Amino acid sequence: MVRNDHAVGRRACRCFRMSLKIGFVGCGLIAQSHAIRLRAVDTADIVLAFDIDGDRAASFADKTGARVATSVEQVIEESDAVYVTTWTSEHPHLVSAVAAAGKPIFCEKPLGVDLSTARTMFDEVQAAGVVNQVGLVLRHSPAFRWMHHQMSSGVHGPRMSLVFRDDQYIPVQGMYGSTWRGDLEKAGAGTLLEHSIHDLDLIDWIFGPIVRVSCVTSNTHGIEGIEDQASLLLTASHGGQAILSSTWHDVITRPSLRLVEGFCQGTYVGLEGDWVGPIRQSTAEQKQVEWQGQEVVEMANEIDGGGVNPDADFVDAVLNERPAFPDFGVAVRAHALADAAYRSAAENGAPIEV
Ligand SMILES: NC(=O)c1ccc[n+]([C@@H]2O[C@H](COP(=O)([O-])OP(=O)(O)OC[C@H]3O[C@@H](n4cnc5c(N)ncnc54)[C@H](O)[C@@H]3O)[C@@H](O)[C@H]2O)c1
Repeated sequence: MVRNDHAVGRRACRCFRMSLKIGFVGCGLIAQSHAIRLRAVDTADIVLAFDIDGDRAASFADKTGARVATSVEQVIEESDAVYVTTWTSEHPHLVSAVAAAGKPIFCEKPLGVDLSTARTMFDEVQAAGVVNQVGLVLRHSPAFRWMHHQMSSGVHGPRMSLVFRDDQYIPVQGMYGSTWRGDLEKAGAGTLLEHSIHDLDLIDWIFGPIVRVSCVTSNTHGIEGIEDQASLLLTASHGGQAILSSTWHDVITRPSLRLVEGFCQGTYVGLEGDWVGPIRQSTAEQKQVEWQGQEVVEMANEIDGGGVNPDADFVDAVLNERPAFPDFGVAVRAHALADAAYRSAAENGAPIEV
């Protein structure tokens, strides 16, 4: 079941095993982000690292204290749980191997290069009965958790509109430097699938369920199959409309940025910055109020008691033998929205029911 309400607070560990042995397959940029967050978790150790690029594995092992593994099989055999953090097209066979061994899996988003692959991966982890989590990490963001509450709790009346703009420099350069993001076979598509699958998930959560999607895309950089602009109109079951603009540009001085503005009948809410704002609100009764930083964390915690560290939550789920969140089911729903958008774009923006 897809859990939409956030309840990811850490519980006391009921497990006799004191520390979870974690292995990584794929030792690039995102693996390092997970390693930093796992450092804050005293019930987990990164013990093994494997990458087809030996230098990357060695550098990751050096930073984390892990051993360099000689194969994927070794990582799976000698770890209690496995992170799949390779480029996207490699996720499916690696997830299959981990699931077949009955080990918990954290897999990065997108799960695979298309919807049918994502569905197969979901079926595999379900059949294996393993704890599974996907890298839709913004479900743990205090700013988005606050926005979800303001928009969907009903306290401000019906939801009317959401405008969601997301942009980053095309990540085949700069700190990403990932040639695979310009390779259709490895990435599956461009900015909408590779980056804005986060946004589709958030829009559905904050404003949905989304029932209809229209989309047009364009490709200014001219990399085959890798759209660098996607513009979507998403209609919710309640009749409100969301607009998503997702851009990959060349403004390398600009970090990845989201600007989100929503209206219920009785409030305006605004958000800049993925994690701790600033967030803004105006209601009929009050002037505009702005919060950011630790106060946003505290506001989100008051709402749902949740945690801000997705990796801590995964470790806790494994040790306590409970489902992790967000899981592969959440990812499949986001893939279904992306799939509808690409089908719409292929028909010049024709509305597609989801
Ligand atoms: N959740 C997020 O916010 C977020 C952010 C960035 C990237 N990602 C996702 O994480 C994944 C990796 O992205 P990245 O930025 O870390 O890319 P990256 O290029 O920095 O790292 C990917 C690594 O995977 C390795 N690799 C590829 N195939 C392999 C295999 N079969 N076995 C072992 N190693 C293999 C590569 O050598 C490379 O070192 C992608 O799916 C991407 O979409 C998610």
